Amino acid sequence: MASYDVIVIGSGPGGYVAAIRCAQLGLKTACVEGRETLGGTCLNVGCIPSKALLHASHMLHEAEHNFAAMGLKGKSPSVDWKQMLKYKSETIGQNTKGIEFLFKKNKIDWLKGWGSIPEAGKVKVGDETHEAKNIIVATGSEASSLPGIEIDEKTVVTSTGALELSKVPKKMVVIGAGVIGLELGSVYARLGSEVTVVEYLDHILPGMDGEVQKTFQRMLKKQGLNFIMGAAVQEVEALKTKTKVTYKLRKDDSEETVDADVVLVATGRKPFTDGLGLDALGVEMTDRGQVKTDAQWKTNVDGVYAIGDCVTGPMLAHKAEDEGMACAEVIAGKHGHVNYDVIPGVIYTHPEVAAVGKTEEMLKEEGRAYKVGKFSFMGNGRAKANFAGEGFVKILADKETDRILGAHIIGPMAGDLIHEICVAMEFGAAAEDLALTCHAHPTYSEAVREAALACGDGPIHS
Ligand code: FAD
Ligand code: NAI
Repeated sequence: MASYDVIVIGSGPGGYVAAIRCAQLGLKTACVEGRETLGGTCLNVGCIPSKALLHASHMLHEAEHNFAAMGLKGKSPSVDWKQMLKYKSETIGQNTKGIEFLFKKNKIDWLKGWGSIPEAGKVKVGDETHEAKNIIVATGSEASSLPGIEIDEKTVVTSTGALELSKVPKKMVVIGAGVIGLELGSVYARLGSEVTVVEYLDHILPGMDGEVQKTFQRMLKKQGLNFIMGAAVQEVEALKTKTKVTYKLRKDDSEETVDADVVLVATGRKPFTDGLGLDALGVEMTDRGQVKTDAQWKTNVDGVYAIGDCVTGPMLAHKAEDEGMACAEVIAGKHGHVNYDVIPGVIYTHPEVAAVGKTEEMLKEEGRAYKVGKFSFMGNGRAKANFAGEGFVKILADKETDRILGAHIIGPMAGDLIHEICVAMEFGAAAEDLALTCHAHPTYSEAVREAALACGDGPIHS
């Protein structure tokens, strides 16, 4: 039996970051992980592999659609699926090994196996029980399916199976027009699958700004994705040679079907806390199965903390990381803090979509007086040169004070551009502060400045 200041259970972005920060703050730290490799959902079956496939398939799309116009002639590349999966696996390997290296560098013990908490102050891994003054639960989340639908990860898959298909399917049905459905749907559409997205709501990406939802859906349709909206999936039936998806249209209750070789169920994720023994320990949970914590990630049981996907808030890697760092600081007696009002969300399709802060719909509901500064990438020289003129930057600012309340970007490198607005919001900046900042030319970021100018006397290039 070993004795630690902190044992973190789970090595995803929440857990491994918490462990590293704890060690850096001088706490004797171990991290329990049941998977073969460190890094959690994000590195093994989430962010990293999906981005590798998005990158490879985007390269193909560029070659097919834009190379000839730039004077780059020749046959478009063909898809070697095995090699693409190898590239994806190697990318995962480099990243998970990187965490192993960081654990060694920071003298963090990796306790291999599935952990449980038999009592406060103790963590059991296999046959061994270790002592811990503090325990951080960072056990993440798992895909949630629909009742009655059997996932085999071959023809009816979650995102995990969709990252590992034996071949590129001719026809794919994606259930759910959320982030996973649209990212992985885009991958397969680019690789040549006929992709149909079946969504319960009348719009894609619940929670995003309405104007972005509409523009983005239009763009995805142009890229070849089909959408069946307002449709509640009832059944997924495996037939001999194909899989049949039955859905009910909400507008008139009529039932229809669509066939596929592969069905991707992307209807959300749920917290994963199985086997930890939280029930017996008396840890309070929310009615959505999340571990309940206070503002400092403390549960109701002394010395037990929780962070990341298994607690409330957006299920995002960077949110988990920020909580990991802040929780470690709280344990070390410092002032850990996460500003939940400034957590960006990014969808890594092409174009990318990024958002931070309030949407117009939220501001309307709050009855807040606001102004909109919007700028199209068509007015951005760099974007036009790179065939990336579609989309816009939209900044929402308080009508009286000009303080930035939210921003929504659809366009090239949106996931990187959003961060200058995040920093501005963190500093309580006005749109004018961005507008007065000199931006290098020619960069995509000029579109952000122009949107900020549009909150005041107007942009120059539109
Ligand atoms: P996880 O990453 O889920 O890690 C938890 C770890 O705990 C797992 O490795 C698990 O094996 C381990 N564990 C669980 N129970 C035990 C136990 N009892 N003992 C030992 N180990 C245990 N987010 C983004 O921000 N950007 C993206 O681009 C993005 N892309 C995604 C793509 C896909 C396909 C998916 C599925 C998710 C994506 N996400 C993305 C979400 C992101 O992966 C999660 O928000 C993030 O991984 C949460 O981190 P976490 O540390 O809370 O948990
Ligand atoms: P999601 O919550 O984003 O979307 C699920 C969609 O499925 C919703 O639009 C919902 O209306 C729809 N749906 C639910 N039941 C349905 C039914 N019966 N029939 C038809 N449609 C139905 O969930 P998703 O896409 O599975 O992603 C899970 C989590 O993973 C997200 O919370 C996200 O934060 C995270 N993630 C983040 C990424 C990123 O940051 N780029 C990438 C991938 C995942």
